[in-house]
This record gives sequence, structure tokens and C-alpha cells, in this order.
Amino acid sequence: MNIAFLSFLLLLVTASNASITMNNDKDLLEFPLNLEFLEAEFFLYGALGRGLDSAAPELTEGGPPPVGARLAKLGFLVRDIIIQFAYQEVGHLRAIKHTVRGFPRPLLNVSKEAFAEVMNSAFGRSLHPPFDPYANEINYLLASYVIPYVGLTGYVGANPLLQNSTSKALVAGLLGVESGQDAVIRTLLYERRQVPVAPYGVSVVEFTNRISELRNKLGKKGLKDEGLIVPKSLGAEGRIEGNVLAGDKFSLAYGRSPKEVLRIVYGDGDEHRVRNLGDLIMLNNRIA
Ligand SMILES: *[C@@H]1O[C@H](CO)[C@@H](O)[C@H](O)[C@H]1NC(C)=O
Ligand SMILES: *[C@@H]1O[C@H](CO)[C@@H](O)[C@H](O)[C@H]1NC(C)=O
Repeated sequence: MNIAFLSFLLLLVTASNASITMNNDKDLLEFPLNLEFLEAEFFLYGALGRGLDSAAPELTEGGPPPVGARLAKLGFLVRDIIIQFAYQEVGHLRAIKHTVRGFPRPLLNVSKEAFAEVMNSAFGRSLHPPFDPYANEINYLLASYVIPYVGLTGYVGANPLLQNSTSKALVAGLLGVESGQDAVIRTLLYERRQVPVAPYGVSVVEFTNRISELRNKLGKKGLKDEGLIVPKSLGAEGRIEGNVLAGDKFSLAYGRSPKEVLRIVYGDGDEHRVRNLGDLIMLNNRIA
């Protein structure tokens, strides 16, 4: 398969930092800005129909607006929750930029076509009609399942690499809320786990399993991602199939190194793609 996978997740790369070495606190703190920008825009648009340019224009530092972001069709509860997530992401952007210089908003492609490609990759075939994250609440929650968990594993993986206490405190704070978001999204989906996602006739559980399998495959470091129902042996204490939160055999959160995160977000299994790019670049078309 040669596909764009999750490439929309990270369409980054700063001019000043073309070679991402990830061996110091500054790089480790700046790297997640990409995902935080993505989450901020996806949640702001999904719930409110407008993004950072309206909510906190100063944080964009003139970076281009996201492509294809839309207001999603959400019910009252989910919309209320997503608005809260959206403003949390704005706070995360501020927190990171208070600590390190950071960079302007990268060009992000959160179009329904980009998400459709991710889902096609997860299923290994084209879904018809193409998956549209903005069409209804279940689709939006499934699209949301794709995102904070990548940040979560990245923060867990970054933590032991950090040198100073300021950086560790920041990452712990980001991780706490990011994993909270993941837990809420997973819980909302867990409630609907057997619901068939229209019109595909595929259950919510199977969507989550497929997305998690895809991320495992791309990360190339074994099992670090689990859907909402797992074989009993993978559940907590090897005793239960329900898997509302993902965790290892001790129910500790899985961690991923920056390289693994890059392999997932670039989707071609090659983290080196990110090297030597001199500017903010939208990579989707190149990868596809
Ligand atoms: C810790 O790292 C942060 C982020 O790189 C930096 O801003 C801060 O000055 C560092 N503090 C110390 C005491 O080295
Ligand atoms: C966004 O991604 C989709 C799917 O890969 C692609 O078809 C579209 O051209 C991209 N948009 C831009 C402006 O590159």
C-alpha cells in the first residue's frame, strides 16, 4: 500500500529547524506544536465553524488557514465537549509557546478527502461513499479517535528524554489533558461500540480496531495501540475484553518516540522524509 495514511496529521517543518534531531528539550517541546495546531483547528471548526483565525489569531503568527475544515453536524452534548477540547488546545498552544519559541501555524489539510484517505488506508480498501468526518456525530468522533492518542503516546515517549524540570512539568500537564480528551472520545464511542456506522455497515468497534492496527503497523514498534474491544489477553490484567482505555500489560500508557510518531503521521513508514525540508510544506500530495 502506498497511501497518504495519516499524513494530514503533520504537515509541518519549520524553516529554522529543517533537520529535526529531537535530542534536546526545545525540539521535543516544539514537535508537538504540529499536532496541537491540528487539534485546535479540527475541534474549533468542528464545533464552531471557525478556527484559530477567529479564536486566537496571534497564535497563528501568519501561518496559512487549514484546508477543508468544516462545521460538523453534532448533537448538543458532543458539541459542548468539543468546544471545551478546542479551547483546551488553544491553551496548549499558548503553554508551549510560552516555553519555547515555536513556529507559525503549518498548513494543515483537514478536508474530508484527507480523512477519507486515512479511513481507506485503515480498511485497505475504498469506502463508498468516501468517509466524511463532518457528516454526523459518529463520524466526527471516529475522526477524533485518530488524533489525541497520537499526541498522548508522543508525550509519554518524550518524557524520559527531557532534561529539565520546566520541560517535564509542561509535558506532564499536556499529557494529562490530552489523555483526558482521548478517554472522553473513547467513552463516547464505547457507548456506541456496536452501532453500525452508516452506510458502511461496519461497527464503531471495527473502525477503532482498524485505525489502531494501522497506527501499530506504521509505528513499526509492535503493539502500542488498541481499539475499544480487544482479546481478553490484552485487556487489563488479561481479564477483560472491554478496552475503554488503551494500556500495556500493566495498564500503563504506551509511549512512542518522535521517530515512531513521524512514521505514523507521514504514513509511509519512513521518518526521514521529514529531514531537509526547508519550509512549511503541505505534504499530502507528494506522499499520495
Ligand atoms: C529548560 O528547558 C526549557 C525549554 O527548552 C528552557 O526554556 C529553559 O530555559 C530550560 N531551563 C533550564 C533551567 O535549563
Ligand atoms: C488535501 O488532501 C486531499 C486528500 O489527500 C487532497 O485531495 C487535496 O488536494 C488536499 N488539498 C490541498 C489544498 O492540497
